[in-house]
Amino acid sequence: MIDGELQRLAILKTTKMTTKTNQRQRSREWYQRAQESLIEGVNSPSRGAAVYSPGPVVLERGRGSRVWDLDGNEYIDFMMSFGALIQGHAHPKIVEVVSQTMAGGSHFAAATPAESEAAERFLRMVPSAEAVRFTNSGSEATMLALRLARAHTGRTKFLKFEGHYHGWYDPYCLNGNSHPAEQLGTRENPARFPDSEGIPASVFDDVVLAPWNDLEVFESILRRHGRELAAVITEPIMANMGCILPRDGYLQKVCDLAHEFGALFILDEVVTGFRYAPGGCQQHYGLKPDLSTFGKALGAGFSVGAVAGPRAILDRMRWGSSMVLHYGTFNGHRLTMSVIAANLDLLSASGGAVYKQIYKVGDAAIAGLRDVFHRRKIAAIVQGFGPMFQIYFTGRDAIHDYRDYCQYADTAKYSRFIHGLLDCGIYMTPSNGLHWIISTAHAMQDVETLLAAADEVCAEMA
Ligand SMILES: Cc1ncc(COP(=O)(O)O)c(C=O)c1O
Repeated sequence: MIDGELQRLAILKTTKMTTKTNQRQRSREWYQRAQESLIEGVNSPSRGAAVYSPGPVVLERGRGSRVWDLDGNEYIDFMMSFGALIQGHAHPKIVEVVSQTMAGGSHFAAATPAESEAAERFLRMVPSAEAVRFTNSGSEATMLALRLARAHTGRTKFLKFEGHYHGWYDPYCLNGNSHPAEQLGTRENPARFPDSEGIPASVFDDVVLAPWNDLEVFESILRRHGRELAAVITEPIMANMGCILPRDGYLQKVCDLAHEFGALFILDEVVTGFRYAPGGCQQHYGLKPDLSTFGKALGAGFSVGAVAGPRAILDRMRWGSSMVLHYGTFNGHRLTMSVIAANLDLLSASGGAVYKQIYKVGDAAIAGLRDVFHRRKIAAIVQGFGPMFQIYFTGRDAIHDYRDYCQYADTAKYSRFIHGLLDCGIYMTPSNGLHWIISTAHAMQDVETLLAAADEVCAEMA
C-alpha cells in the first residue's frame, strides 16, 4: 500500500526543470589523460567509454546520497558503487571509525580483536552462519565457496545459471553476458559462451549450465548431471541482468532438488546480503543455504567478501594435511573489519529500522517511475522492490530470466535514458545489466528529484 506521501510522489506534477549537468569539459580532459596510463582509462571495462558515451563522468567526491564530478556538477547517486555503499558516501560514523582505527595502524596480518568484532556481528545477523571467513572481494568469496563445496562433497562439477555473475574466477565466466536470442540454444541444452579469452576450454568441462527460474528444466538437467555436482550456485535475485525476481517458491525448490542429488546449495548474496534484510535474501525468503557468499554492502565501501555456513563445512579450512587452502595477506584487514563492525551496528540498530526507510524510499522510486512511464506512454517496466530495482524498456509485462533479457530488453534505449538522466543530475550507470540501489542516505526528496528528471527525459524520448 502506498501512503499519502508516496501517492504524492507517484502523481508528481513535474513542472520543475532540473539543473543541467552536461558541461563536463574537465571530465573529458581527465579521461584523455587517464587513457595514457590505464587500459581504457579505468580499472574495469564497465566504467569506461564502452558504457558511458563519449566517456565517463569523472567523479571527485561524495557525501550522503550525492556525488560531484570534476566540473563541480552535483548528482544524486543511485549506483552507489555497484551497491557497496549501503550507508551512502562518507557516512560520519564510518569516517570516524576509519580515522580512529587508522591512527593505530591499518593492518597487521595477525590476529586482531577487530576481526572477531566483525564476525560476531555477522553471525548475529546471517541466519545460516555458524562461522564466517572474510575474503577481500565477492569474487574471492565465490571462489572459496566452490573450493569448499568440492572438498566437502568430493565432486568436481558444479551447476551455474545462465546470466548469473559470480565474479571473474575462471569457471564462473560462462554466459555472464547477454547474446542475441537466436544464438542461445535450447533451454535443456543452452549454448555456452565463455565471457573471457584466456580461460582453458577444459575449465568449462566442469560447469553444467541451466536456465534460471525454470524448475522443470532444472530438474531434467539434474537427472542427467545431478550426481556429479558438488554444488548448485545461484543468486537469490538475479542482479547481473538488472533485477530479476525468483518465481514463488523457486529458490527453496532449487535447494531441495540440489540436496536430493547430494549437491550443496550455494546462495551468492554478494549483491543481496545485508540489503534486503539484516540477514539478506536468505532471511527474506526463509532459505537455509549450505554456503553463502557476501561482499558489497557488508563493507560499506571497503573491499571485502565473506563465506558463511555451518562448521561442518567451514572447518575444512582448519590447518592440516587435508585442509581447504585459503590464504591472503589482506584477509581480515583491520581497517575493513572495524568498518564492518560499525556498518553492521548501524544496520541492526533499533531492530533494523533503517531497512524500513530503505524500503519506503525504494518503493516510492519504483511507484513513481512506473507512473512517469505510464503517463508518458513509454513501454517500460520497473522490476524489483525496496532496496534494488531495474528499468527495462520492453513491451513485456516482466523479464523472468536471461533469455527474456537477451530478447526483450531494449538496452540501447536504456542507455539513452540514463545518459539523459546524467545530464539532469542523476548518477547511474548506463548498463542495463546493473541495478538501481537505495542506501540509508537516500531520502524522499531524492526520489522527487529523480522523478522530475525521469519525466523530463521521457518527454524528450517520447
Ligand atoms: C552476485 C555477485 N557475485 C559475486 C560478485 C563479485 O564480487 P566482486 O566484484 O566484489 O569481486 C558480484 C559482483 O558484482 C556479484 O554481483
